[in-house]
Amino acid sequence: MHISVIGCGYLGAVHAACMAAIGHDVVGVDVDVAKVEALSQGKAPFFEPGLPELLQEQVASGRLSFTNDMAAIKGATVHFVGVGTPQKRGEYAADLTYVDAAVASLIHHLAPGDVVVGKSTVPVGTASRLAALVTEAQPEATLVWNPEFLREGHAVQDTLHPDRLVYGLPSGPAGQAAGAVLDEVYAPLIAEGIPKVVADYATAELVKVAANSFLATKISFINAMAELCEATGADVTLLADAIGHDERIGRKFLNAGVGFGGGCLPKDIRAFMARAGELGVDQALSFLREVDSINMRRRVRMVDLAREVCGGSISGRRVAVLGAAFKPESDDIRDSPALNVATQMHLQGATVVVTDPEAISNARRAWPDLRFADTPEAAAKDADVVVLLTEWRQYRDLDPNAFGEIVAHKRMVDGRNVLDPEAWRAAGWTYRALGRH
Ligand code: UDX
Repeated sequence: MHISVIGCGYLGAVHAACMAAIGHDVVGVDVDVAKVEALSQGKAPFFEPGLPELLQEQVASGRLSFTNDMAAIKGATVHFVGVGTPQKRGEYAADLTYVDAAVASLIHHLAPGDVVVGKSTVPVGTASRLAALVTEAQPEATLVWNPEFLREGHAVQDTLHPDRLVYGLPSGPAGQAAGAVLDEVYAPLIAEGIPKVVADYATAELVKVAANSFLATKISFINAMAELCEATGADVTLLADAIGHDERIGRKFLNAGVGFGGGCLPKDIRAFMARAGELGVDQALSFLREVDSINMRRRVRMVDLAREVCGGSISGRRVAVLGAAFKPESDDIRDSPALNVATQMHLQGATVVVTDPEAISNARRAWPDLRFADTPEAAAKDADVVVLLTEWRQYRDLDPNAFGEIVAHKRMVDGRNVLDPEAWRAAGWTYRALGRH
């Protein structure tokens, strides 16, 4: 099939490459000239395992191309919209500027029978508003809402083998026909037995924000338990292991630490609260306010812990920060807890040296006042305290004996609960972590 993908960020670039990989002819469109240039050469403009290989392969095959020109979508029959919906400045609500601009621009190129597929995370009600614009411009085109659940770091796998497909369709024959077109697009996934849920627009839009709200709640739940553990001398990791054995609860997403960040979870729960307010059901989501504040409190607590192990103040101290990305296997620093903690410590007078295997250049652009080092060893040289904030494999595998030779004081604050306290203490370190003693 001939497919266009509008928006070539973390979502769109991966989607375009994966659609080519399953045999479609794909054109990716983005307004960013540098991004299109890189993608056209088969280079990923961000770090995502497996994506560079896939891009090179598919661009070389001739099935995948990228352009800045929206007119290039002519000839494609299915148009995916995967542009960003960031948080508005100074408000909780989502900024729909990019979605609105993409749809306004693409509708001029639609032909009868075309299907526009929304993938961006949007406030409930957006799809029906956009559907009116689509059918006004081309009465024989149909809008479908097909939310995307990919995780950064696993984006290729999640796109090719998602847990489920969700179609939000309009009622009637036009909706049925559009659903059949999407079945054809996803034929290999459907043949694999991936569950498909067919719903109306509003349900499809809600599935995405409900899933992210649930995940955020799960993380903040265990982080609230961490606060209880800190007050009682209990161990949140053991607590998570024990409750996680209950299949109804499950151990996944129960890792206590400095909390969630990234381009999705924080802004999605805020946009969801804002939308609920507009709909007059803000009470239904008031718990998300608590989820958000538990999450933000963990960042402050992290700085408190660093201060505690340094004897009450970090002013003038040298702090090594392991990790800048919001999670491992990503170079994404949007709402990164690691950088939030690093800048708080910087503002409290510490000399903060940050390292990360992939995210340093993004971090340096956003926070030029911080210092950066290429390796954990360089960051930790003469450090008074080491703070682990993103659980990259190479930090989890650090040898406490060898690492102890580099620092000025053997003080480790583990913000992700991934190190073995006994091993670090046996090597002479003062080890502290969130939610355990
Ligand atoms: C998330 C959703 O998982 C995905 O389905 C959706 O499409 C987009 O948002 P992503 O932002 O890539 O994906 O990251 P995810 O792996 O969900 O992690 C989110 C944050 O939670 C990270 O900062 C991570 O460090 C944190 N986290 C995760 C915890 O603090 N504890 C956990 O147990 C799990």
